[in-house]
Parts: sequence; C-alpha cells; structure tokens
Amino acid sequence: MRLAKFLASAGVASRRAAEELIRAGRVQVGGERVLDPAKDVNAQDAVTVDGGPVTPPAAERIVIALHKPAGVISTAADPQGRRTVVSLVGSERRLFPVGRLDHDTTGLILLTDDGELAYRLTHPSFEVEKTYRAVVARPPVHDRTLRALRNGVRLEEGLTAPARVRRVGPDVIEITIHEGRKRQVRRMCEAVGHPVRSLIRVRFGTLELGDLRPGRWRALSAQEIAALSRAAKG
Ligand code: URA
Repeated sequence: MRLAKFLASAGVASRRAAEELIRAGRVQVGGERVLDPAKDVNAQDAVTVDGGPVTPPAAERIVIALHKPAGVISTAADPQGRRTVVSLVGSERRLFPVGRLDHDTTGLILLTDDGELAYRLTHPSFEVEKTYRAVVARPPVHDRTLRALRNGVRLEEGLTAPARVRRVGPDVIEITIHEGRKRQVRRMCEAVGHPVRSLIRVRFGTLELGDLRPGRWRALSAQEIAALSRAAKG
C-alpha cells in the first residue's frame, strides 16, 4: 500500500494532508525518513509520524456502531437462543460486543473483531467515557442530588469515581462515567432515591449515537476508529 494511503487509512490525516506530512520529512519507515508518498509499505513496517508510532490501518479490523433496542442481550451468543446484538448485525466476521448494556438498556454499543481495541475501550484503566441518559422516578431531581452523583455514590463495592452529571429535564439526567461497573448508572440513581425508568447510552468515547435508529447499525470509518482508540488513555 502507498505510504500516504497507509497514513490516511490509519486515521492519521486525510490523504492529501498525509502526502504533505511525508514531503515535509515528518514520516519515517523503519527508522528512515521517507519523502515519497508513493513508497510501498505494509502492516509489518514500523511507520512513525514526528517520532510517534502509527497503528497499521484499520482495513483489517471492523468496528460497528449499533443502536441496541431493549430486550436484546449484549453477549456474542446466548445458550437460551435469545436475540443478541451480534445476531442483529448478522456479519460473516466473528464479532463481539465491546462491553455490555443491560437487557433493558438501549443505545450505542460497539461490535468489533479487534480484541485489542475492545480491551482498551472497556478496561477501566483506560478511562473511556460513556454518557447515558436516564429517565428517573420521583422527580424533581434536586441540585444536591446531582452534586452527590457527581462526587461519588457509595455502592456495595465502594464509592463511584467522580462523574459528570446534568439535568436535561425534570425527570431526565445525563451521566458521564468512565468506570464500567455492573448496572452502574441504575445503581447510582437508585442510591440517590431516583430509580431508573429507562436508560439509553448516547455516547461512547468520541462516538455519538446521533440519529441511528433502534436496531440499525453502521460500520465506522478508519478515522472514527482511530479517534476512538486515541480516547483510550494509557
Ligand atoms: N449502567 C447501567 O446501569 N446499565 C447499563 O446497561 C449501562 C450502564
């Protein structure tokens, strides 16, 4: 593959901007500066831009954004034969879900065949943010309750990390967390006296659910995948 295409499909820059980076002498292959955008490279070559390594292009991996409807489970397979997020996509590739959403939670879930990326996006140490909208019981939600959610709520296994929380309507709050504890948002809301009536995930890292309809999905572009993996700290 041509070096400029390699950089573009790795999400470093547009094809044209990648050519400029190369001509400006900022790109090295195997430790040597390369000025020709047409130089042939492959995934085994160590390519750097300004000294930083470039992860090989995403051509070999696939990441899908799905709007999970309620009543679908987010495991790869279900022994009881219930509908899974993977069966909704029906890909010939062996995909697995990136993390979990509860049976009744709707919204953005990612599926991929890239185990390393899935690990980075879900392991708590990488602190990838996820944003949820919760419709809660017993409105109104007072400011002091929002503050409690922000500062950390005591769950049975300990205090939750600081969260970003805002009120979107009298009974709707938006919560951004970067931990991935089981049923975390539901348990946090329950702990402050507002059990969740419905829950939707509207953002995962750099990716928004946007206007993707329930049950629909789309494959992410190389740029979107690159941005997502940059969102994983570490
Ligand atoms: N928090 C929850 O309580 N449920 C989910 O599905 C995701 C986050």
